[in-house]
Parts: sequence; structure tokens; C-alpha cells
Amino acid sequence: MSRNQSSISISGTILITSLVINTLIIRSAYLNPTYYWWLIISMPLLGIIIFNIIQKKHAILRNYPLLGYLRYIFESIRPEIRQYFFESDADGKPFNRRQRSIVYQRAKNVKQTVAFGMQTDPTQVGYEWMVHSIYPVHIKNKSPRVLVGNKQCRQPYNASILNIGAMSFGALSKTAIESLNAGAQLGGFAHNTGEGGISPYHLIGGDLIWQIGTGYFGCRNHVGNFDADLFRKNASNPKVKMIELKLSQGAKPGHGGILPAAKNTPEIASIRNVPVNTTIVSPPAHTAFSDAKGLIYFLETLRQLSRGKPVGFKICIGSKQEFIDICQQMKLTGIVPDFITIDGAEGGTGAAPLEFTDHVGMPLMEALSFVSTTLTKMGLKKHIRLIAAGKIITGFDILKVISLGADICYSARG
Ligand SMILES: Cc1cc2nc3c(=O)[nH]c(=O)nc-3n(C[C@H](O)[C@H](O)[C@H](O)COP(=O)(O)O)c2cc1C
Repeated sequence: MSRNQSSISISGTILITSLVINTLIIRSAYLNPTYYWWLIISMPLLGIIIFNIIQKKHAILRNYPLLGYLRYIFESIRPEIRQYFFESDADGKPFNRRQRSIVYQRAKNVKQTVAFGMQTDPTQVGYEWMVHSIYPVHIKNKSPRVLVGNKQCRQPYNASILNIGAMSFGALSKTAIESLNAGAQLGGFAHNTGEGGISPYHLIGGDLIWQIGTGYFGCRNHVGNFDADLFRKNASNPKVKMIELKLSQGAKPGHGGILPAAKNTPEIASIRNVPVNTTIVSPPAHTAFSDAKGLIYFLETLRQLSRGKPVGFKICIGSKQEFIDICQQMKLTGIVPDFITIDGAEGGTGAAPLEFTDHVGMPLMEALSFVSTTLTKMGLKKHIRLIAAGKIITGFDILKVISLGADICYSARG
């Protein structure tokens, strides 16, 4: 018997059995009317069975018209079952339980220590450790800051070494954006707006890094291109301390994005300067420039329009040559950005196709090492601050990227 025939016979058997049961119940009800109550259960079940046997969308329900639902129920609680009962402390992606716990504990300012010692396996390939010294350094400056802004910048910004990474209002709720911004003010660090523009919830008091993506939200004209006047106006906000031009993002390099019409509410439309209730596409590439030279001149335009605020770009490294070309243009034109943000391929996003999240772009450690070495070789490192993003949540993560050449870090999901 073929597989198809056997599944038809299973569902057929179930249908016949349930018809027989219902007939028996109806017959019994003639003798004893209390049996009619059973029909309240058996008739809808018969209806579900007939419906599932006829439908052609779900193969499992067609073959197993009742039991098939168990599969959907178990699948829906699979993440919780795994997380609460089976996941070890070192399991879990993108952050394991130990990492998540330390974030919760530190956010709540409760117990931040672990008992009994190392839980990772030091013999495992990829195990990372730090060198300590028997002569501890006495750090005078308890809250170290990094000055961002080279000689071409007129309003340098004294940044914290850890800041809030880009996540737009739209990807996050207004409460989340308000909380992050209030946190930035309390902690004395900066809050990256994400490419969705500056919302009122970003203006609670924390310093802002205004990010501009290919959609130019907050500085776009009616056809979606860069609008210099609007940029000048928003960049002059005293809360905007730096301008970050987004070229690519680790989780989806070259993908762009879509704001669906349903999500394009009057509030979001006014923040992003787009027509309400329409689908807005952020293209994969910028329209303001199309090559390395154009990028460098565009950065200079942003610097001038913002009256000399620090400008930089965010990139997930793909082709090394493309990055080298940008550096060469810096040398040729003499225009040097104040910072470069390196986002690792392991970075997060609101939404992206799996192929992009899992397989496109260079991971953070390789990218940082390449960028830092390239800038040093070309004599540019001393003029440009390197910002690192990609699963940075603990002090060890910060030291790791600093040792590879970063000056400053972002943490978004953390
Ligand atoms: C919900 C969400 C929204 C994001 N939105 C943006 C964005 O608007 N612009 C951007 O450059 N990166 C965006 N990112 C990527 C983060 O800024 C960051 O680069 C990446 O997640 C790596 O940092 P993390 O590991 O600390 O999260 C977003 C990430 C998440 C999780």
C-alpha cells in the first residue's frame, strides 16, 4: 500500500469510527434522552473531522483530523518547554541563559555574582580568557569617556564607552524608547535613534546619536531622497550629539526594509516624514551617493549641515576591498569621518530573511580586526573612533573588542 493510500485509509477509518459513534449515541438517545448531551461534544468533533478531511491546506490535519492538532499545540509551547525545562545555562541563541540572567540582574541591580566557579569548558575550542596582572592598575578616572571628533569636527562629543545601539521607534514601542532614553540620561551614555528618525520619545533627556538610513527618515523629501533643509533642522537639535549614516546592518546587510501601510500610523508618518497609511520602502542602497568618493563627500555635507557635529558611518563588512576603497578616498580627499561603527553579522534586527541573518556579512571579531589593521596601516586610526556592535553585554565583551581596536561599544538587544 502506498503512503498516500495508507493516509487516506487512516482518515477514512477515523471518519467512519466517528460516524458510528454518533449513530450509536443517537440510537441510545431514543431509549434514554440524557444521551442527547453527548451529541454536544460528538457532533462538533464530527464536523471538525469532516472539515479537515476535505480541506487541502494542512496535510497533517487531513491525515489525522483530530490528533493532528496536538502537533500544533506542542509546537506553540516548544520554546517555553525548551527554555524552562531543557535548556542548559550555556544554551540558547542569540544569548544563552547565563548572559540573559546577568542582564536581568544588573538591570534590576540585584545579585550579580555567580557561585561555585566556571561553568564554561576551558578545553573547548574557542574558549576565551583574559590576562591579568599581579600589579593591579589603580584607575583614577572611574567613568572613562572617549572624545569623538577629529580636527575637522567643530562640536566633538565626549562619549561613554558603552551606549545604546540603534533600534527605531517602530521596531520598539514608545515605552521602550522612552525607557532607553531616560536610562541614557541616568547613565550618562548616548542613545542611537535607529533609522526610523527622531520621535518625541527620544527626547526625554538622554543624548542622541541620530542615525540616517537609506529611507532618510526625518530628512527625506516627498520622493524619498535626502532633504538638506530638513536634515539641517533636525541635526540642530541640541540633544543630537553625533550623526551616523547607516550603510549596512549585521543582521541583514544590503537588504533594506519595508514599513507596511498598516504600521504607518499618523504618528510614525509624521516622525518619518512620509505619507500616512502607505507602504514605505527603504532601498538596499543610498540614493545620495553611489561610490566611495560620493560617500565621503556626503559625510562632509552632513558635517557641514550639522554645523560640525561628529559624523560617521555604520557598516557590516562584506567585501574587504570596498572598505579599503573608502579609506583610500579618505586619503585622497582629505575628508576623514569622526567615527566608524562596525556591526557584526551576529547582530539583531526587527525582521530579516533567515539567509541574511545567518549567512551574510563578516562576524564582529574578524571585522574589527580587519578594520582596525587597515585604518592603522593607512595612518587613519588616530583620527577615527571605532565603535563596535554585536552581542556586547558584559565587561569581558567590552574588553575583548577594545583589545581588537574598538574605542566605544553599542549594546542594543542587551
Ligand atoms: C529590534 C531591533 C531593531 C534594530 N534596528 C536597527 C536600526 O534601525 N538601525 C541599525 O543600524 N541597526 C538596527 N538594529 C541592529 C542593532 O543596532 C545592532 O547593531 C545589532 O543588534 C548588534 O548589537 P546587539 O548584539 O547589541 O543587539 C536593530 C536591532 C534590533 C534587535
